[in-house]
Amino acid sequence: MYKTHNNGELRMAHVGQEVTLSGWVQTIRDKGFMMWIDLRDRFGITQLMFNEEVSDPALMETARQCGREFVIKATGKVIERSSKSDKIATGDVEIQVTSFEILNASKVPPFTIEDESDGGDEIRMKYRYLDMRRNPVREKIIFRSNMALEIRKHLIGQNFVEVETPCLIKSTPEGARDFVVPSRMNPGQFYALPQSPQTFKQILMVAGMEKYFQIVKCFRDEDLRADRQPEFTQIDCEMAFVTQDDILNTFESLTKHLFKSILDIDLPDFPRMFYDDAMKLYGSDKPDTRFGMEFVELTDVAKDKGFVVFDNAELIVGICAEGQVEKYSNKDIKKLTEWMQRPQIGAKGLIYVKCNADGSFKSSVDKFFDADALKNWAEKFGAKPGDIMFILAGEEEKTRKQLNELRLEMGERMGLRDPKVFKPMWVVDFPLLEWDEETNRFHAMHHPFTSPKKEQMESMLNGDHETMKGLRADAYDLVINGVEIGGGSIRIHDRALQEKNFKLLGFTPEEAEEQFGFLMGAFEYGAPPHGGIAFGFDRLCAVMNGVTSIRDFIAFPKNNQGRDTMIDAPSAIHDEQYEELYLKSTASEEVVS
Ligand code: AMO
Repeated sequence: MYKTHNNGELRMAHVGQEVTLSGWVQTIRDKGFMMWIDLRDRFGITQLMFNEEVSDPALMETARQCGREFVIKATGKVIERSSKSDKIATGDVEIQVTSFEILNASKVPPFTIEDESDGGDEIRMKYRYLDMRRNPVREKIIFRSNMALEIRKHLIGQNFVEVETPCLIKSTPEGARDFVVPSRMNPGQFYALPQSPQTFKQILMVAGMEKYFQIVKCFRDEDLRADRQPEFTQIDCEMAFVTQDDILNTFESLTKHLFKSILDIDLPDFPRMFYDDAMKLYGSDKPDTRFGMEFVELTDVAKDKGFVVFDNAELIVGICAEGQVEKYSNKDIKKLTEWMQRPQIGAKGLIYVKCNADGSFKSSVDKFFDADALKNWAEKFGAKPGDIMFILAGEEEKTRKQLNELRLEMGERMGLRDPKVFKPMWVVDFPLLEWDEETNRFHAMHHPFTSPKKEQMESMLNGDHETMKGLRADAYDLVINGVEIGGGSIRIHDRALQEKNFKLLGFTPEEAEEQFGFLMGAFEYGAPPHGGIAFGFDRLCAVMNGVTSIRDFIAFPKNNQGRDTMIDAPSAIHDEQYEELYLKSTASEEVVS
């Protein structure tokens, strides 16, 4: 037997018992006549003690051969420690070892297996099995497992059925590139890995499943960021005979259940904000509402007053940073302006108005605006002495985006984005279509299966181009602390409307039929009204832990180049595989098919 107990289990109540423990060597302290080994497993650490007076010398000799991360088994008596430790749960006791065995040796690990490791990201990923022995990583993986269990319990309790959908499918357009898999049995043809199970879950509604969910892998070939992996997991759901309200209520209740059962946090009802308001007040469809600093527009009072930057602008808009006057010297403001001018943000400049403690103003536009004008602005902003107003001007959409970046940065600098505070919200009524000036065509804002609002269906079928720009959808996102956790919509369940949508999106009828004929065909056999949502599971785990990177919640994540450095994938394939798959090998430049 390897274990009578785990290494986090023993307490004073066990004193006197003989126990057997196994695990990895965390540390060894050798004082010659006495020796201690901290033995670690998934559950904790227990101190093993060897004492020359009572332990067999051969046994101590064996123990001395151990190094960090050796795998060992020890038997002995639980005794009370003379110097107790409150740092570990088992700190009151230790094991007086009477039998000891090395189960496996270990090379010296390339980084320390401690909470604060000395290993950089790349090396930790290459040796992920060692990284996962560390508490912070292991805890995140266990957190994820607990979440998955609670999700299943909750949704199955609400009559949802978990259905697995295939991984080898036909491309579903969710906005990213597909990963494709060549088919050996169908020369020259390819499967795509699902960017999401979107079409399948809709087909499941036609199939009468009514309430479907799946914790499911999705694959998107897109540029990676801290909150994006090429292979990630969704909590994917679909429901029939529902309105937007039904879906929001169902998934608000799931989210509340997860916060309560996992973090013991009671979330209040989630506010709902229209997409248009989110853009106007925060310049973002995923506002971080842990703090205010909402946008205030000055276009009507500051334009056409002789300041050319404002006069040429479509929008003049700003934020008020409370109590920052003392903290921002002219040099600091210059630095902040340079930060805003970096290509990532691309602001042309940054206007400031300092509201001094004595009630006077100091601004970068003093030449153009007198104290009365600035006082008027301050009133609009609700700015008090001690505050600074930061103002941007330019083309509407760009300016809002830039001010969003500034708002988030100021929120961060002012300590207003506390990772332990959670502000979930629904953003609703997204536009159905997005007009792209460059390519001169519409894109689906959510995806091509999203329905316009019921009252706009007729306009969508018969309206002109401008009408299409104004169409709104029953499409919604769950946002927590400025992170898009999930998104969904009420779907089209009617062939004619779906055909029209594909047409607006630039598909020829043949292309639409070729790619989505199966779905439109299914709509002809009694498709119920339906809608759904998908949460990013990795993102939800990260946000609930107050971190931005989803990597540690994924057991074996990819690096920023999309590589798994542990197994060294992706990698080249053999010439025979090219042949078998009827592919052209770029290595040999031969056409094999
Ligand atoms: P959407 O594309 O909005 O919707 O995706 C749903 C959620 O999945 C998460 N997510 C990601 N997480 C990590 N890495 C990625 N690369 C990544 N891409 C997306 C986000 C996002 O909100 N089929 C629709 C859902 C529906 O309409 O029901 C869909 O996939 O948290």
